[in-house]
Amino acid sequence: MQQIDRSEITPKHVFLSRREFMRAAGVSAGVVALAACAPSAPAAPAASSAVAGEAAVATGGLAAAVGTLPAALAFSEPTASAATDELGDKLNKFDEITNYNNYYEFSLDKEEVAPLSTNFTTYPWQVEVTGLVNKPTTFAIEDLIRNFPQEERIYRLRCVEAWSMVIPWVGFNLSALINAVEPKAEAKYVEFLSVLRPEEMPGQKTSLLDWPYSEGLRLDEAMHDLTIMATGMYGELLTPQQGAPLRLVVPWKYGFKSIKGIVKIVLTDTQPVSTWAMAAPREYGFYANVNPEVNHPRWSQATERRIGELGGRRPTLPFNGYGDEVASLYAGMSLTANF
Ligand code: MTE
Repeated sequence: MQQIDRSEITPKHVFLSRREFMRAAGVSAGVVALAACAPSAPAAPAASSAVAGEAAVATGGLAAAVGTLPAALAFSEPTASAATDELGDKLNKFDEITNYNNYYEFSLDKEEVAPLSTNFTTYPWQVEVTGLVNKPTTFAIEDLIRNFPQEERIYRLRCVEAWSMVIPWVGFNLSALINAVEPKAEAKYVEFLSVLRPEEMPGQKTSLLDWPYSEGLRLDEAMHDLTIMATGMYGELLTPQQGAPLRLVVPWKYGFKSIKGIVKIVLTDTQPVSTWAMAAPREYGFYANVNPEVNHPRWSQATERRIGELGGRRPTLPFNGYGDEVASLYAGMSLTANF
């Protein structure tokens, strides 16, 4: 078969915004070489620390303070590679992205999430990947950051509440993580669960939602090249209010699908019922693809307010502007019935 250059098969905007990240000094040369040379070959799950309590071993001698991720895991380029996304839309500022957050575990008030989450413990942290897989594995966060190649993805985030931002994430393909645990043929869906820690998350002391927050994707959506697990933003590790140390980002779906503070991922043969679908099934469907033609029962989705932008609203794009890449996932499906 003819050799095709990666730039020819990768969607243009992904290729343009794709920049591999190295971590700052303190990570062994061997690990950096792995990240640079093997973009689609994560370390074998056996190399990961498998259980809680092994974090100290897994850091490989990094000075790790309980509470926050070891400084040596920080990325070496604390900035974004471009000032705009592929449509020419300006990136939102770091302060805008980190001071206007939906994270109901902390507060319903978007501006209260940052101060309430300042001391949230993001280290040590484990993520269990299990269910219909051959190699169920519990990964320490440092292994996910060191062993899976981290890259920048500049994506629009469109909230179901009709506001949006442009965010320069750092992260890795969810497909790489799923491949590492070897999904069984019966696996059709992926379920995600957030951390349950009411002692640190005041919102979880209320019955506002059915905790822990959960979400789900079809397996082909989860394996799509645009779907990432984010570990950073603007070249820095994620802040607690953004869902540190690990969150999902699915740019063509409403923001509520992009679940924060993930501790468990389960491959299953049954469509998961996510937190919002459980709370209000008429308002929040399983697919939640950004669609200007299907209104929320209580407001229009035809337009949106870009945070930080003065002036009027802008039209909402089908699939949040990623239709060329993802519309084929839904060929033959009614996007009204499957909202
Ligand atoms: N994940 C958890 N665990 N809890 C939440 O309340 N809110 C969701 C999503 N992920 C939420 C979550 C919603 S409604 C949106 S719009 C995005 O996170 C917001 O992400 P941001 O605060 O980083 O912009």
